[in-house]
Amino acid sequence: MNRVIGRAGEIPWRLPEDFKWFKELTTGGIVLMGRKTFESLPKALPNRTNVVFTRGARRLAADGEFVAKCGCKPLVGHWAARLGKGGFQLGFERLGPGEVWLVRGVRQFLDALARHRVKREVFVIGGAQIYERLLPRCTDLYLSLVFREVEGDAFFPEFDRWFSDRYEVVRKTADFEVRHYRKRRE
Ligand SMILES: NC(=O)c1ccc[n+]([C@@H]2O[C@H](COP(=O)([O-])OP(=O)(O)OC[C@H]3O[C@@H](n4cnc5c(N)ncnc54)[C@H](OP(=O)(O)O)[C@@H]3O)[C@@H](O)[C@H]2O)c1
Repeated sequence: MNRVIGRAGEIPWRLPEDFKWFKELTTGGIVLMGRKTFESLPKALPNRTNVVFTRGARRLAADGEFVAKCGCKPLVGHWAARLGKGGFQLGFERLGPGEVWLVRGVRQFLDALARHRVKREVFVIGGAQIYERLLPRCTDLYLSLVFREVEGDAFFPEFDRWFSDRYEVVRKTADFEVRHYRKRRE
């Protein structure tokens, strides 16, 4: 309720129903996240392409603990050039489930997604830094509002500038509700 989303690198509540909703929503898609959010996960999210934004991609790709969490060799660098080459056959549509891409250029990556008219759904899944950076480019916002106030050090950004005041409640339990907001018309 107070916009807290994280504390000491973790989510400060455990709501299995919310995780279930998140899994249903994002499975099959491309999930974009900051490096700290990826590190907060037990492992790469299965059946989704994990895109992790970081300014230290090569360092992370050489870090055994990080690679173990990926569960596979993370892909680093040259993705933009690869996407442009027909012969290379590695497009966003073809990325396998559970792959991890380490990406430095947030804007370049989003531009490439748009340019290649990717059909898979793309989800921005946090944390605070990445929400702040990418919310203005999102068309829809599914916000899980947790009915309790907890202390934390990571906050969901103000979003009313980008999204309409009206919303639809698409799931509700005793602990939280999921609100679907749409982008404001210009
Ligand atoms: N409640 C929820 O639904 C939810 C969801 C997600 C996360 N969370 C919580 O949020 C917290 C993490 O959020 P956070 O804001 O601290 O971190 P974050 O957004 O997950 O990750 C920040 C990192 O992303 C990379 N990054 C940020 N901007 C970038 C850019 N423009 N270009 C390239 N890389 C960029 C940097 O990685 P490098 O330092 O490697 O360069 C930066 O340190 C955790 O507590 C997590 O549990 C909660």
